[in-house]
Amino acid sequence: MSRFQDKVALVTGGTSGIGRAAALAFARDGAKVVVAARRAERGREVVGEIEKRGGKALFVRTDVSRADEVERLVAETVKAFGRLDFAFNNAARVEEPLAPTADLTEEDFDQTVGVNLKGVWLGMKYEIRRMLAQQPQGGVIVNSSSCNGLGGCQHASFYAATKAGVIALSKSAALEYAKSGIRVNALVAGPIRTPMLQAAMERAAGGDREALKKVEARYAGMTARGRMGEPEEAAEVALWLCSDAASYVTGHSMIVDGGITAFWR
Ligand SMILES: NC(=O)c1ccc[n+]([C@@H]2O[C@H](COP(=O)([O-])OP(=O)(O)OC[C@H]3O[C@@H](n4cnc5c(N)ncnc54)[C@H](OP(=O)(O)O)[C@@H]3O)[C@@H](O)[C@H]2O)c1
Repeated sequence: MSRFQDKVALVTGGTSGIGRAAALAFARDGAKVVVAARRAERGREVVGEIEKRGGKALFVRTDVSRADEVERLVAETVKAFGRLDFAFNNAARVEEPLAPTADLTEEDFDQTVGVNLKGVWLGMKYEIRRMLAQQPQGGVIVNSSSCNGLGGCQHASFYAATKAGVIALSKSAALEYAKSGIRVNALVAGPIRTPMLQAAMERAAGGDREALKKVEARYAGMTARGRMGEPEEAAEVALWLCSDAASYVTGHSMIVDGGITAFWR
């Protein structure tokens, strides 16, 4: 029997990168999967991939920064599959353009905080309410933080601040709901080869191909493994946190970074 048979998993930011890899992996391990993000075409592609492999999935177009849409997402999940066992609150954005703190804009602050921090809180708000109400009660939540949330991040201070906030939100909720059968953990990823990181590296390289190679080598060189991670390597840890193998793990911020922070943490 697959480890997540009869379970229902919700993945925000499931159209790309780590979220897409997690959606495919949840389905591989037997869960019914709800993929949430804004791009409907990409969402349907991920659902198609899951169905082609014999899994069950649904795309719900959602902007995680909007309360009404997140509430509807959880309601659609329950309508389609009956309950909610796992939620991976993973959608995020990086400020655009990358700039020093004093040059960032109020609009960018609102957008980045709205998606990365408020979006995770809204997710937890409706997911936890559902997990408390259902029988059997409970579930597991994993929220995407980042190594950038463990310290500062030059030219992306909003991103870093929201990712630090995600850890505090996760730990707070973990303390509040552990006795109700809900575990909450944060996934703290290092450099993972996804469109988000690719875009950040391209911006840092200023459109120059040679400079991009140097930026990529710099990222890889900062890790102990000497390479960037693949989306599946982060996604598998999110799945492990959801699994019964992690039944005593809550309020944890799990670092998956190829050793990039090993020298100072
Ligand atoms: N890649 C890394 O090196 C790295 C490192 C540390 C942490 N992380 C974290 O890992 C998570 C996944 O990132 P990734 O690297 O896989 O990035 P990605 O490939 O760019 O994926 C980001 C996802 O977020 C979704 N999204 C963005 N804004 C949204 C919104 N307002 N509402 C709903 N969905 C939204 C995007 O889908 P749509 O555009 O379709 O909405 C996309 O599916 C993020 O939380 C990121 O901060 C990544």
